[in-house]
Amino acid sequence: MKQATFTRFDHSSAQDWSIIDHHFKQYRSGAADRVLMHLLRLKGDNHGYPVDRYTHCLQTATRALRDGADEETVVCALLHDIGDDLAPDNHAEIAAGILEPFVDPLNVWMVRHHELFQGYHYRHFYGQDPHAREAYREHPAYARTVRFCDEWDQCAFDPDYDTLSLEYFRPMVERVLSRPPFDNEPQHNA
Ligand SMILES: [Fe+2]
Repeated sequence: MKQATFTRFDHSSAQDWSIIDHHFKQYRSGAADRVLMHLLRLKGDNHGYPVDRYTHCLQTATRALRDGADEETVVCALLHDIGDDLAPDNHAEIAAGILEPFVDPLNVWMVRHHELFQGYHYRHFYGQDPHAREAYREHPAYARTVRFCDEWDQCAFDPDYDTLSLEYFRPMVERVLSRPPFDNEPQHNA
């Protein structure tokens, strides 16, 4: 396949960028597969929890689905902890970044803030304020983030729960991640 010939951007041509754009569109179409392959990497990562992070993600999504959440929210639930291995101290940013071009900004906010909201259930064990999330009570995504954490995320550590498989969720992830990304934004990530 053809490649651009420049050695620096300020020497590039329209033809170079046409070639790059062609490659980029092909590569982007495989994003859902790569994201789900990364989710598989969380298999076996227990870190003292009763289930590994992979099962936790699947179970959070399963609980959301069975509670009637829409497809976009289920995908957020599936991916919300995907950054655990890459950014253990800032993991929510990874999922928020993956989802941000494709989902409602309020759902991006929900994913980005889920750790603080989830802390309602354990921060006191660390001598921290479990009610810290109340600072966001007036935020339009407050209620959905509380629901996400209280009803799906914090209770998704049950090894005996009938958790759905990754393959069940794959078409949902493919549909959400193939939506048109940010309108009117440059398509390449140089
Ligand atoms: Fe979680």
